[in-house]
Amino acid sequence: MALLFDLFGFLEVVVRFASLIGQAFAVGGVVFVLLLIRPAARRPEGAALLDRALRLVRISAATLVVSVAIDLWMKLVMLEAVNGVPFIDGIGAGFARGLSVRLAAAILLLLFARAPFGLARAIGASVAATALILGAAATSHAVSRPDGRDLLIVANALHQAAACVWIGGIPYLLMALKGATAADARYYGRGASVLSMIGVAGLIFAGTAMALTYVGSWSGFYGHAYGLMLGTKLCFFIGLLGLGAFNYRTVERLRRDPATPTNRLVARAQAEIGIGITIFAVAASLTSIAPAIDQPGEHVPLSAIVERLTPQAPGLTSPDHDDLAIPMLQAQLDASRSAEDTSDKPKAFVCGSGDLPPINAADIAWSEYNHHWAGLFVLLIGLMAVLERTGRASWARWWPLVFIGLAAFLFVRSDPEAWPLGQIGFWESMRDAGVFQHRLVVLLVVAFAVFETMVRTGRIKNPRAAYVFPILIAIGGGLLLLHSHPLSDVKSSFLIEMTHSPMAVLGVAAGWARFLELRTKSATAAWTWPVCFVLIGLVLLDYREA
Ligand code: HEM
Repeated sequence: MALLFDLFGFLEVVVRFASLIGQAFAVGGVVFVLLLIRPAARRPEGAALLDRALRLVRISAATLVVSVAIDLWMKLVMLEAVNGVPFIDGIGAGFARGLSVRLAAAILLLLFARAPFGLARAIGASVAATALILGAAATSHAVSRPDGRDLLIVANALHQAAACVWIGGIPYLLMALKGATAADARYYGRGASVLSMIGVAGLIFAGTAMALTYVGSWSGFYGHAYGLMLGTKLCFFIGLLGLGAFNYRTVERLRRDPATPTNRLVARAQAEIGIGITIFAVAASLTSIAPAIDQPGEHVPLSAIVERLTPQAPGLTSPDHDDLAIPMLQAQLDASRSAEDTSDKPKAFVCGSGDLPPINAADIAWSEYNHHWAGLFVLLIGLMAVLERTGRASWARWWPLVFIGLAAFLFVRSDPEAWPLGQIGFWESMRDAGVFQHRLVVLLVVAFAVFETMVRTGRIKNPRAAYVFPILIAIGGGLLLLHSHPLSDVKSSFLIEMTHSPMAVLGVAAGWARFLELRTKSATAAWTWPVCFVLIGLVLLDYREA
Protein backbone atom coordinates (compact mmCIF):
# COMPACT_ATOMS: atom_id res chain seq x y z
CA MET A 1 0.00 0.00 0.00
CA ALA A 2 2.88 2.35 0.85
CA LEU A 3 4.18 1.85 -2.72
CA LEU A 4 0.80 3.02 -4.04
CA PHE A 5 1.16 6.26 -2.07
CA ASP A 6 4.72 6.68 -3.39
CA LEU A 7 3.87 6.26 -7.05
CA PHE A 8 0.28 7.58 -6.93
CA GLY A 9 0.80 10.63 -9.17
CA PHE A 10 2.53 8.57 -11.88
CA LEU A 11 0.11 5.61 -11.64
CA GLU A 12 -2.89 7.94 -11.83
CA VAL A 13 -1.71 9.25 -15.22
CA VAL A 14 -0.92 5.71 -16.41
CA VAL A 15 -4.40 4.30 -15.60
CA ARG A 16 -6.08 7.39 -17.12
CA PHE A 17 -3.96 6.83 -20.24
CA ALA A 18 -4.99 3.15 -20.37
CA SER A 19 -8.66 4.09 -19.98
CA LEU A 20 -8.42 6.67 -22.80
CA ILE A 21 -7.01 3.97 -25.11
CA GLY A 22 -9.75 1.48 -24.13
CA GLN A 23 -12.38 4.19 -24.56
CA ALA A 24 -11.11 5.24 -28.00
CA PHE A 25 -11.18 1.72 -29.48
CA ALA A 26 -14.46 0.82 -27.75
CA VAL A 27 -16.40 3.94 -28.77
CA GLY A 28 -14.61 4.25 -32.13
CA GLY A 29 -15.48 0.60 -32.77
CA VAL A 30 -19.16 1.04 -31.94
CA VAL A 31 -19.38 3.99 -34.37
CA PHE A 32 -17.49 2.16 -37.16
CA VAL A 33 -19.60 -0.97 -36.68
CA LEU A 34 -22.92 0.90 -36.60
CA LEU A 35 -22.20 3.13 -39.60
CA LEU A 36 -20.08 0.89 -41.85
CA ILE A 37 -19.70 -2.78 -40.89
CA ARG A 38 -23.23 -3.62 -39.69
CA PRO A 39 -24.95 -2.27 -42.86
CA ALA A 40 -22.60 -4.49 -44.92
CA ALA A 41 -22.97 -7.55 -42.69
CA ARG A 42 -25.74 -9.21 -44.69
CA ARG A 43 -23.05 -10.93 -46.83
CA PRO A 44 -21.14 -13.90 -45.21
CA GLU A 45 -17.74 -12.12 -45.25
CA GLY A 46 -19.50 -9.09 -43.73
CA ALA A 47 -20.85 -11.19 -40.86
CA ALA A 48 -17.36 -12.58 -40.10
CA LEU A 49 -15.96 -9.05 -40.09
CA LEU A 50 -18.74 -7.94 -37.72
CA ASP A 51 -17.76 -10.75 -35.35
CA ARG A 52 -14.10 -9.74 -35.36
CA ALA A 53 -14.96 -6.07 -34.88
CA LEU A 54 -17.30 -6.78 -31.95
CA ARG A 55 -14.54 -8.87 -30.36
CA LEU A 56 -12.17 -5.89 -30.50
CA VAL A 57 -14.90 -3.67 -29.00
CA ARG A 58 -15.24 -6.16 -26.15
CA ILE A 59 -11.47 -6.30 -25.58
CA SER A 60 -11.36 -2.48 -25.48
CA ALA A 61 -14.34 -2.38 -23.10
CA ALA A 62 -12.57 -4.92 -20.87
CA THR A 63 -9.45 -2.70 -20.85
CA LEU A 64 -11.71 0.12 -19.75
CA VAL A 65 -13.33 -1.93 -16.98
CA VAL A 66 -9.91 -2.85 -15.54
CA SER A 67 -8.29 0.61 -15.85
CA VAL A 68 -11.32 2.53 -14.56
CA ALA A 69 -11.80 0.08 -11.66
CA ILE A 70 -8.12 0.50 -10.66
CA ASP A 71 -8.41 4.28 -11.02
CA LEU A 72 -11.54 4.36 -8.82
CA TRP A 73 -9.98 2.08 -6.18
CA MET A 74 -6.70 4.06 -6.07
CA LYS A 75 -8.51 7.38 -5.68
CA LEU A 76 -10.81 6.06 -2.92
CA VAL A 77 -7.86 4.58 -1.02
CA MET A 78 -5.97 7.89 -1.28
CA LEU A 79 -9.08 9.84 -0.22
CA GLU A 80 -9.35 7.66 2.89
CA ALA A 81 -5.61 7.78 3.64
CA VAL A 82 -5.11 11.53 3.02
CA ASN A 83 -8.50 13.05 3.90
CA GLY A 84 -9.83 10.36 6.25
CA VAL A 85 -12.97 9.85 4.14
CA PRO A 86 -14.08 6.23 4.62
CA PHE A 87 -13.80 4.20 1.41
CA ILE A 88 -17.55 3.57 1.18
CA ASP A 89 -18.41 7.25 1.70
CA GLY A 90 -15.95 8.26 -0.99
CA ILE A 91 -18.13 6.62 -3.62
CA GLY A 92 -20.45 9.62 -3.37
CA ALA A 93 -17.68 12.02 -4.39
CA GLY A 94 -17.95 13.73 -7.79
CA PHE A 95 -14.96 11.95 -9.37
CA ALA A 96 -16.21 8.60 -8.09
CA ARG A 97 -19.62 9.13 -9.67
CA GLY A 98 -18.00 9.94 -13.04
CA LEU A 99 -15.76 6.88 -12.80
CA SER A 100 -18.67 4.67 -11.72
CA VAL A 101 -20.67 5.78 -14.77
CA ARG A 102 -17.68 4.86 -16.98
CA LEU A 103 -17.33 1.50 -15.24
CA ALA A 104 -21.04 0.65 -15.61
CA ALA A 105 -21.05 1.79 -19.26
CA ALA A 106 -17.98 -0.31 -20.06
CA ILE A 107 -19.58 -3.39 -18.49
CA LEU A 108 -22.77 -2.76 -20.51
CA LEU A 109 -20.70 -2.50 -23.67
CA LEU A 110 -19.09 -5.84 -22.85
CA LEU A 111 -22.61 -7.33 -22.72
CA PHE A 112 -24.09 -5.62 -25.80
CA ALA A 113 -21.13 -5.82 -28.23
CA ARG A 114 -21.72 -9.40 -29.38
CA ALA A 115 -23.47 -11.27 -32.22
CA PRO A 116 -26.25 -11.44 -33.15
CA PHE A 117 -25.85 -7.64 -33.16
CA GLY A 118 -29.54 -6.84 -33.67
CA LEU A 119 -31.26 -3.50 -33.19
CA ALA A 120 -31.65 -3.85 -29.39
CA ARG A 121 -27.95 -4.54 -28.88
CA ALA A 122 -27.01 -1.80 -31.32
CA ILE A 123 -29.07 0.72 -29.33
CA GLY A 124 -27.66 -0.63 -26.05
CA ALA A 125 -24.11 -0.28 -27.33
CA SER A 126 -24.74 3.30 -28.52
CA VAL A 127 -26.18 4.31 -25.14
CA ALA A 128 -23.23 2.69 -23.34
CA ALA A 129 -20.75 4.46 -25.64
CA THR A 130 -22.42 7.83 -25.02
CA ALA A 131 -22.39 7.26 -21.25
CA LEU A 132 -18.69 6.42 -21.46
CA ILE A 133 -17.88 9.76 -23.06
CA LEU A 134 -20.06 11.74 -20.65
CA GLY A 135 -18.51 9.90 -17.69
CA ALA A 136 -15.03 10.78 -19.00
CA ALA A 137 -15.94 14.44 -19.45
CA ALA A 138 -17.33 14.43 -15.90
CA THR A 139 -13.85 13.55 -14.58
CA SER A 140 -11.97 16.19 -16.57
CA HIS A 141 -10.93 19.71 -15.55
CA ALA A 142 -14.32 20.97 -16.77
CA VAL A 143 -16.21 19.87 -13.62
CA SER A 144 -14.15 22.05 -11.30
CA ARG A 145 -14.55 25.27 -13.33
CA PRO A 146 -16.43 28.06 -11.59
CA ASP A 147 -17.61 29.58 -14.91
CA GLY A 148 -18.89 27.90 -18.07
CA ARG A 149 -18.79 24.47 -16.42
CA ASP A 150 -21.57 22.86 -18.45
CA LEU A 151 -20.30 24.22 -21.78
CA LEU A 152 -16.80 22.94 -20.97
CA ILE A 153 -18.18 19.51 -20.09
CA VAL A 154 -19.96 19.46 -23.48
CA ALA A 155 -16.76 20.63 -25.22
CA ASN A 156 -14.70 17.96 -23.47
CA ALA A 157 -17.27 15.26 -24.33
CA LEU A 158 -17.38 16.39 -27.97
CA HIS A 159 -13.58 16.47 -28.08
CA GLN A 160 -13.18 13.00 -26.61
CA ALA A 161 -15.92 11.59 -28.89
CA ALA A 162 -14.13 13.13 -31.90
CA ALA A 163 -10.84 11.51 -30.86
CA CYS A 164 -12.62 8.14 -30.56
CA VAL A 165 -14.30 8.46 -33.97
CA TRP A 166 -10.98 9.34 -35.68
CA ILE A 167 -8.26 7.34 -33.94
CA GLY A 168 -10.59 4.70 -32.46
CA GLY A 169 -11.99 3.82 -35.90
CA ILE A 170 -8.63 3.11 -37.58
CA PRO A 171 -8.09 -0.49 -36.31
CA TYR A 172 -11.55 -1.36 -37.68
CA LEU A 173 -10.61 0.10 -41.06
CA LEU A 174 -7.48 -2.06 -41.06
CA MET A 175 -9.58 -5.08 -40.12
CA ALA A 176 -12.04 -4.32 -42.94
CA LEU A 177 -9.28 -3.80 -45.53
CA LYS A 178 -7.66 -7.17 -44.77
CA GLY A 179 -8.50 -9.45 -47.70
CA ALA A 180 -11.17 -7.00 -48.88
CA THR A 181 -12.46 -6.91 -52.45
CA ALA A 182 -11.71 -3.72 -54.39
CA ALA A 183 -15.33 -2.62 -53.91
CA ASP A 184 -15.15 -3.22 -50.15
CA ALA A 185 -11.79 -1.46 -49.89
CA ARG A 186 -13.36 1.55 -51.57
CA TYR A 187 -16.47 1.40 -49.38
CA TYR A 188 -14.56 1.20 -46.08
CA GLY A 189 -11.81 3.58 -47.23
CA ARG A 190 -14.36 6.22 -48.19
CA GLY A 191 -16.39 5.71 -45.00
CA ALA A 192 -13.32 5.92 -42.79
CA SER A 193 -12.23 9.12 -44.56
CA VAL A 194 -15.55 10.79 -43.85
CA LEU A 195 -15.43 9.69 -40.18
CA SER A 196 -11.86 11.02 -39.85
CA MET A 197 -12.83 14.38 -41.27
CA ILE A 198 -15.76 14.65 -38.83
CA GLY A 199 -13.38 13.64 -36.02
CA VAL A 200 -10.74 16.20 -36.97
CA ALA A 201 -13.32 18.98 -37.20
CA GLY A 202 -14.74 18.07 -33.77
CA LEU A 203 -11.29 17.89 -32.22
CA ILE A 204 -10.21 21.28 -33.54
CA PHE A 205 -13.49 23.00 -32.65
CA ALA A 206 -13.84 21.66 -29.08
CA GLY A 207 -10.09 21.53 -28.46
CA THR A 208 -9.65 25.19 -29.36
CA ALA A 209 -12.53 26.20 -27.08
CA MET A 210 -11.00 24.30 -24.14
CA ALA A 211 -7.47 25.50 -24.93
CA LEU A 212 -8.55 29.16 -24.91
CA THR A 213 -10.36 28.60 -21.60
CA TYR A 214 -7.63 26.65 -19.78
CA VAL A 215 -4.57 28.46 -21.16
CA GLY A 216 -5.96 31.98 -21.26
CA SER A 217 -2.85 33.84 -22.41
CA TRP A 218 0.30 33.51 -24.55
CA SER A 219 2.47 33.33 -21.41
CA GLY A 220 0.22 30.45 -20.26
CA PHE A 221 0.99 28.72 -23.57
CA TYR A 222 4.77 29.16 -23.82
CA GLY A 223 5.58 29.60 -20.10
CA HIS A 224 3.58 26.94 -18.22
CA ALA A 225 3.60 23.12 -18.17
CA TYR A 226 -0.07 23.00 -19.30
CA GLY A 227 0.63 25.14 -22.37
CA LEU A 228 3.80 23.15 -23.06
CA MET A 229 1.89 19.86 -22.98
CA LEU A 230 -0.77 21.34 -25.25
CA GLY A 231 1.92 22.51 -27.67
CA THR A 232 3.38 19.01 -27.69
CA LYS A 233 -0.08 17.66 -28.46
CA LEU A 234 -0.44 20.06 -31.39
CA CYS A 235 2.88 18.80 -32.83
CA PHE A 236 1.60 15.23 -32.81
CA PHE A 237 -1.75 16.43 -34.15
CA ILE A 238 -0.04 18.06 -37.15
CA GLY A 239 1.91 14.83 -37.76
CA LEU A 240 -1.36 12.89 -37.69
CA LEU A 241 -2.99 15.34 -40.10
CA GLY A 242 -0.06 14.83 -42.49
CA LEU A 243 -0.45 11.05 -42.44
CA GLY A 244 -4.22 11.44 -42.71
CA ALA A 245 -3.85 13.67 -45.77
CA PHE A 246 -1.68 11.08 -47.56
CA ASN A 247 -4.23 8.41 -46.70
CA TYR A 248 -7.09 10.56 -47.95
CA ARG A 249 -5.23 10.89 -51.29
CA THR A 250 -4.80 7.11 -51.51
CA VAL A 251 -8.50 6.54 -50.75
CA GLU A 252 -9.44 9.03 -53.47
CA ARG A 253 -7.09 7.22 -55.89
CA LEU A 254 -8.67 3.90 -54.83
CA ARG A 255 -12.11 5.34 -55.63
CA ARG A 256 -10.97 6.16 -59.16
CA ASP A 257 -8.83 3.05 -59.69
CA PRO A 258 -9.78 -0.09 -57.69
CA ALA A 259 -6.37 -1.61 -58.49
CA THR A 260 -4.58 1.00 -56.34
CA PRO A 261 -2.36 -0.89 -53.83
CA THR A 262 -3.36 -0.28 -50.20
CA ASN A 263 -0.13 -1.33 -48.42
CA ARG A 264 0.98 2.28 -47.87
CA LEU A 265 -2.51 3.21 -46.63
CA VAL A 266 -2.34 0.34 -44.12
CA ALA A 267 1.19 1.27 -42.95
CA ARG A 268 0.29 4.92 -42.48
CA ALA A 269 -2.91 3.96 -40.68
CA GLN A 270 -0.86 1.79 -38.29
CA ALA A 271 1.45 4.77 -37.63
CA GLU A 272 -1.65 6.95 -37.08
CA ILE A 273 -2.81 4.54 -34.37
CA GLY A 274 0.62 4.70 -32.70
CA ILE A 275 0.80 8.50 -32.74
CA GLY A 276 -2.87 8.73 -31.70
CA ILE A 277 -2.11 6.55 -28.66
CA THR A 278 0.81 8.88 -27.84
CA ILE A 279 -1.62 11.81 -27.90
CA PHE A 280 -3.75 9.96 -25.34
CA ALA A 281 -0.66 9.87 -23.10
CA VAL A 282 -0.33 13.64 -23.57
CA ALA A 283 -4.04 14.13 -22.88
CA ALA A 284 -3.82 12.01 -19.70
CA SER A 285 -0.83 14.11 -18.55
CA LEU A 286 -2.68 17.29 -19.48
CA THR A 287 -5.51 16.52 -17.07
CA SER A 288 -3.01 15.95 -14.25
CA ILE A 289 -1.57 19.49 -14.63
CA ALA A 290 -3.33 22.56 -13.24
CA PRO A 291 -4.64 24.73 -16.12
CA ALA A 292 -2.25 27.61 -16.88
CA ILE A 293 -5.02 30.18 -16.37
CA ASP A 294 -5.24 29.11 -12.70
CA GLN A 295 -1.53 29.80 -12.05
CA PRO A 296 -0.84 33.23 -13.56
CA GLY A 297 2.03 33.76 -11.10
CA GLU A 298 3.79 30.61 -12.25
CA HIS A 299 4.21 31.51 -15.92
CA VAL A 300 7.88 31.57 -16.90
CA PRO A 301 8.76 34.81 -18.70
CA LEU A 302 9.91 34.52 -22.33
CA SER A 303 13.28 36.05 -21.40
CA ALA A 304 13.99 33.18 -18.98
CA ILE A 305 13.05 30.64 -21.67
CA VAL A 306 15.28 32.33 -24.28
CA GLU A 307 18.12 32.53 -21.77
CA ARG A 308 17.75 28.84 -20.93
CA LEU A 309 17.61 27.79 -24.60
CA THR A 310 20.53 29.98 -25.71
CA PRO A 311 23.20 27.40 -26.63
CA GLN A 312 26.19 27.17 -24.29
CA ALA A 313 29.22 24.90 -24.30
CA PRO A 314 28.18 21.58 -22.71
CA GLY A 315 29.65 20.69 -19.30
CA LEU A 316 31.71 17.54 -19.88
CA THR A 317 33.46 17.33 -16.51
CA SER A 318 31.53 15.78 -13.65
CA PRO A 319 31.29 17.25 -10.15
CA ASP A 320 32.50 14.94 -7.37
CA HIS A 321 29.87 12.49 -6.10
CA ASP A 322 30.64 13.43 -2.48
CA ASP A 323 29.71 17.04 -3.23
CA LEU A 324 26.13 16.08 -4.10
CA ALA A 325 23.46 17.15 -1.58
CA ILE A 326 22.35 13.68 -0.40
CA PRO A 327 25.84 12.13 0.02
CA MET A 328 26.99 15.32 1.80
CA LEU A 329 23.99 15.30 4.14
CA GLN A 330 24.46 11.58 4.78
CA ALA A 331 28.13 12.16 5.61
CA GLN A 332 27.12 14.90 8.09
CA LEU A 333 24.49 12.63 9.70
CA ASP A 334 26.98 9.78 9.94
CA ALA A 335 29.65 12.08 11.39
CA SER A 336 27.24 13.42 14.04
CA ARG A 337 26.44 9.89 15.30
CA SER A 338 28.38 8.71 18.32
CA ALA A 339 30.07 5.30 18.09
CA GLU A 340 27.82 3.97 20.90
CA ASP A 341 24.60 4.88 19.03
CA THR A 342 23.12 1.49 18.01
CA SER A 343 19.83 2.86 16.71
CA ASP A 344 19.06 2.73 13.00
CA LYS A 345 21.25 5.06 10.98
CA PRO A 346 19.25 8.20 10.09
CA LYS A 347 18.92 8.54 6.31
CA ALA A 348 19.54 11.78 4.41
CA PHE A 349 16.74 10.90 1.99
CA VAL A 350 14.08 8.19 1.88
CA CYS A 351 12.85 7.18 -1.61
CA GLY A 352 9.08 7.35 -2.03
CA SER A 353 8.60 9.39 1.14
CA GLY A 354 6.93 12.03 -1.00
CA ASP A 355 9.60 14.53 0.10
CA LEU A 356 11.49 16.25 -2.66
CA PRO A 357 15.19 15.26 -2.68
CA PRO A 358 17.57 18.02 -1.45
CA ILE A 359 19.67 19.38 -4.31
CA ASN A 360 22.60 21.75 -4.54
CA ALA A 361 24.70 23.26 -7.33
CA ALA A 362 26.69 20.02 -7.68
CA ASP A 363 23.46 18.06 -8.28
CA ILE A 364 22.50 20.46 -11.05
CA ALA A 365 25.98 20.16 -12.63
CA TRP A 366 25.78 16.36 -12.26
CA SER A 367 22.43 16.22 -14.06
CA GLU A 368 23.59 18.60 -16.80
CA TYR A 369 26.73 16.46 -17.26
CA ASN A 370 24.53 13.36 -17.61
CA HIS A 371 22.29 14.99 -20.21
CA HIS A 372 25.29 16.35 -22.16
CA TRP A 373 27.05 13.00 -22.33
CA ALA A 374 23.76 11.28 -23.21
CA GLY A 375 23.53 13.93 -25.94
CA LEU A 376 26.95 12.96 -27.27
CA PHE A 377 25.92 9.29 -27.35
CA VAL A 378 22.67 10.05 -29.22
CA LEU A 379 24.40 12.51 -31.57
CA LEU A 380 26.97 9.79 -32.42
CA ILE A 381 24.14 7.31 -33.06
CA GLY A 382 22.36 9.81 -35.33
CA LEU A 383 25.50 10.70 -37.29
CA MET A 384 26.45 7.01 -37.74
CA ALA A 385 22.90 6.21 -38.91
CA VAL A 386 23.11 9.10 -41.40
CA LEU A 387 26.50 7.79 -42.59
CA GLU A 388 25.07 4.30 -42.99
CA ARG A 389 22.20 5.78 -45.01
CA THR A 390 24.72 7.31 -47.46
CA GLY A 391 25.84 3.74 -48.26
CA ARG A 392 29.50 4.80 -48.06
CA ALA A 393 30.28 3.57 -44.54
CA SER A 394 29.18 -0.03 -43.96
CA TRP A 395 30.94 -0.05 -40.58
CA ALA A 396 28.36 2.53 -39.44
CA ARG A 397 25.66 -0.17 -39.36
CA TRP A 398 26.93 -1.02 -35.88
CA TRP A 399 25.43 2.21 -34.50
CA PRO A 400 22.86 0.36 -32.31
CA LEU A 401 25.73 -0.83 -30.10
CA VAL A 402 26.36 2.75 -29.02
CA PHE A 403 22.99 2.51 -27.23
CA ILE A 404 24.52 -0.11 -24.93
CA GLY A 405 27.10 2.47 -23.89
CA LEU A 406 24.32 4.99 -23.29
CA ALA A 407 22.33 2.47 -21.21
CA ALA A 408 25.35 1.65 -19.02
CA PHE A 409 26.06 5.36 -18.56
CA LEU A 410 22.46 6.12 -17.58
CA PHE A 411 22.24 3.11 -15.26
CA VAL A 412 25.30 4.19 -13.29
CA ARG A 413 24.74 7.93 -13.23
CA SER A 414 21.00 8.76 -13.48
CA ASP A 415 20.30 8.44 -9.76
CA PRO A 416 23.56 9.11 -7.86
CA GLU A 417 21.84 8.75 -4.45
CA ALA A 418 21.03 5.12 -5.26
CA TRP A 419 22.96 1.94 -6.06
CA PRO A 420 25.51 1.55 -7.66
CA LEU A 421 27.01 4.96 -6.75
CA GLY A 422 24.78 5.89 -3.78
CA GLN A 423 23.86 4.38 -0.41
CA ILE A 424 20.18 3.77 -1.18
CA GLY A 425 19.57 0.15 -2.19
CA PHE A 426 18.51 -0.82 -5.73
CA TRP A 427 15.03 -2.09 -4.79
CA GLU A 428 14.45 0.60 -2.18
CA SER A 429 15.22 3.27 -4.81
CA MET A 430 12.46 1.90 -7.09
CA ARG A 431 9.90 3.44 -4.70
CA ASP A 432 10.78 6.80 -6.29
CA ALA A 433 8.75 7.33 -9.51
CA GLY A 434 11.67 9.17 -11.13
CA VAL A 435 14.18 6.37 -10.40
CA PHE A 436 11.62 3.77 -11.48
CA GLN A 437 11.17 5.52 -14.83
CA HIS A 438 14.94 5.93 -15.32
CA ARG A 439 15.41 2.18 -14.83
CA LEU A 440 12.55 1.49 -17.24
CA VAL A 441 14.25 3.66 -19.89
CA VAL A 442 17.58 1.84 -19.38
CA LEU A 443 15.84 -1.52 -19.91
CA LEU A 444 14.16 -0.14 -23.04
CA VAL A 445 17.46 1.15 -24.45
CA VAL A 446 19.22 -2.18 -23.88
CA ALA A 447 16.30 -4.09 -25.43
CA PHE A 448 16.21 -2.17 -28.66
CA ALA A 449 20.01 -1.92 -28.93
CA VAL A 450 20.34 -5.72 -28.78
CA PHE A 451 17.44 -6.31 -31.15
CA GLU A 452 18.45 -3.74 -33.73
CA THR A 453 22.09 -4.94 -33.76
CA MET A 454 20.97 -8.54 -34.35
CA VAL A 455 18.53 -7.42 -37.07
CA ARG A 456 21.13 -5.23 -38.84
CA THR A 457 23.82 -7.88 -38.76
CA GLY A 458 21.38 -10.54 -39.99
CA ARG A 459 21.54 -12.59 -36.79
CA ILE A 460 17.73 -12.42 -36.53
CA LYS A 461 16.00 -13.38 -39.77
CA ASN A 462 12.38 -12.99 -38.64
CA PRO A 463 11.18 -9.83 -40.47
CA ARG A 464 8.95 -8.88 -37.54
CA ALA A 465 12.02 -8.43 -35.30
CA ALA A 466 12.91 -5.31 -37.26
CA TYR A 467 9.82 -3.61 -35.81
CA VAL A 468 10.99 -3.94 -32.19
CA PHE A 469 13.40 -1.01 -32.42
CA PRO A 470 10.97 1.54 -33.92
CA ILE A 471 8.15 0.55 -31.58
CA LEU A 472 10.38 0.74 -28.48
CA ILE A 473 11.76 4.11 -29.62
CA ALA A 474 8.20 5.44 -30.02
CA ILE A 475 7.30 4.05 -26.56
CA GLY A 476 10.44 5.66 -25.10
CA GLY A 477 9.42 9.00 -26.59
CA GLY A 478 5.92 8.59 -25.18
CA LEU A 479 7.30 7.69 -21.74
CA LEU A 480 9.17 11.01 -21.69
CA LEU A 481 5.75 12.70 -21.70
CA LEU A 482 4.77 10.86 -18.53
CA HIS A 483 8.15 11.67 -16.94
CA SER A 484 8.58 14.70 -14.65
CA HIS A 485 11.21 16.17 -12.31
CA PRO A 486 9.07 17.33 -9.39
CA LEU A 487 10.72 20.40 -7.91
CA SER A 488 9.26 22.66 -5.24
CA ASP A 489 9.56 25.49 -7.73
CA VAL A 490 6.96 25.11 -10.54
CA LYS A 491 8.97 27.42 -12.82
CA SER A 492 12.19 25.41 -12.49
CA SER A 493 10.42 22.13 -13.22
CA PHE A 494 8.85 23.78 -16.27
CA LEU A 495 12.27 24.93 -17.55
CA ILE A 496 13.49 21.32 -17.22
CA GLU A 497 10.45 19.71 -18.81
CA MET A 498 10.79 22.21 -21.62
CA THR A 499 13.52 19.99 -23.10
CA HIS A 500 11.57 16.77 -22.57
CA SER A 501 8.77 17.74 -24.96
CA PRO A 502 10.87 18.28 -28.08
CA MET A 503 12.80 15.08 -27.30
CA ALA A 504 9.50 13.21 -26.92
CA VAL A 505 8.19 14.57 -30.24
CA LEU A 506 11.48 13.71 -32.02
CA GLY A 507 11.59 10.27 -30.38
CA VAL A 508 8.05 9.40 -31.45
CA ALA A 509 8.70 10.80 -34.94
CA ALA A 510 11.90 8.72 -35.22
CA GLY A 511 10.10 5.54 -34.13
CA TRP A 512 7.24 5.87 -36.60
CA ALA A 513 9.51 7.09 -39.42
CA ARG A 514 11.65 3.95 -39.04
CA PHE A 515 8.42 1.90 -38.94
CA LEU A 516 7.20 3.52 -42.18
CA GLU A 517 10.62 3.01 -43.79
CA LEU A 518 10.41 -0.70 -43.04
CA ARG A 519 6.79 -0.97 -44.23
CA THR A 520 6.86 1.27 -47.31
CA LYS A 521 10.56 1.67 -48.25
CA SER A 522 9.89 5.44 -48.17
CA ALA A 523 13.14 7.39 -48.67
CA THR A 524 11.70 10.36 -46.76
CA ALA A 525 11.02 8.14 -43.75
CA ALA A 526 14.49 6.55 -44.11
CA TRP A 527 16.20 9.93 -43.71
CA THR A 528 13.78 11.28 -41.09
CA TRP A 529 14.68 9.06 -38.13
CA PRO A 530 18.50 9.43 -38.27
CA VAL A 531 18.01 13.21 -38.44
CA CYS A 532 15.64 13.00 -35.45
CA PHE A 533 18.42 11.28 -33.47
CA VAL A 534 20.88 14.01 -34.39
CA LEU A 535 18.36 16.64 -33.22
CA ILE A 536 17.68 14.78 -29.94
CA GLY A 537 21.46 14.70 -29.37
CA LEU A 538 21.65 18.48 -29.91
CA VAL A 539 18.70 19.14 -27.57
CA LEU A 540 20.42 17.07 -24.88
CA LEU A 541 23.72 18.91 -25.42
CA ASP A 542 21.90 22.20 -24.82
CA TYR A 543 20.17 20.90 -21.68
CA ARG A 544 20.53 23.12 -18.61
CA GLU A 545 18.94 23.22 -15.19
CA ALA A 546 20.09 26.63 -14.07
C1 HEM B 1 -6.35 20.99 -32.34
C2 HEM B 1 -5.83 20.04 -31.64
C3 HEM B 1 -6.18 19.80 -30.18
C4 HEM B 1 -6.39 20.69 -29.16
C5 HEM B 1 -6.31 22.19 -29.21
C6 HEM B 1 -6.69 19.91 -27.96
C7 HEM B 1 -6.95 20.45 -26.71
C8 HEM B 1 -7.35 19.75 -25.60
C9 HEM B 1 -7.63 20.33 -24.30
C10 HEM B 1 -7.47 21.77 -23.94
C11 HEM B 1 -8.06 19.33 -23.49
C12 HEM B 1 -8.57 19.46 -22.05
C13 HEM B 1 -7.73 18.87 -21.08
C14 HEM B 1 -8.21 19.21 -19.71
O1 HEM B 1 -9.25 18.72 -19.26
O2 HEM B 1 -7.47 19.97 -19.10
C15 HEM B 1 -8.01 18.13 -24.27
C16 HEM B 1 -8.38 16.93 -23.76
C17 HEM B 1 -8.29 15.80 -24.51
N1 HEM B 1 -7.82 15.67 -25.80
FE1 HEM B 1 -7.29 17.14 -27.04
N2 HEM B 1 -6.68 18.60 -28.27
C18 HEM B 1 -6.37 18.49 -29.61
C19 HEM B 1 -6.22 17.35 -30.33
C20 HEM B 1 -6.45 16.12 -29.80
C21 HEM B 1 -6.24 14.89 -30.52
C22 HEM B 1 -5.71 14.79 -31.94
C23 HEM B 1 -6.59 13.88 -29.68
C24 HEM B 1 -6.55 12.41 -29.89
C25 HEM B 1 -6.00 11.79 -30.82
C26 HEM B 1 -7.03 14.49 -28.43
C27 HEM B 1 -7.49 13.79 -27.35
C28 HEM B 1 -7.89 14.35 -26.15
C29 HEM B 1 -8.45 13.61 -25.03
C30 HEM B 1 -8.72 12.13 -25.02
C31 HEM B 1 -8.71 14.52 -24.01
C32 HEM B 1 -9.33 14.26 -22.64
C33 HEM B 1 -8.32 14.03 -21.67
C34 HEM B 1 -8.93 13.66 -20.36
O3 HEM B 1 -9.91 14.25 -19.91
O4 HEM B 1 -8.33 12.78 -19.75
N3 HEM B 1 -6.94 15.85 -28.55
N4 HEM B 1 -7.58 18.41 -25.55
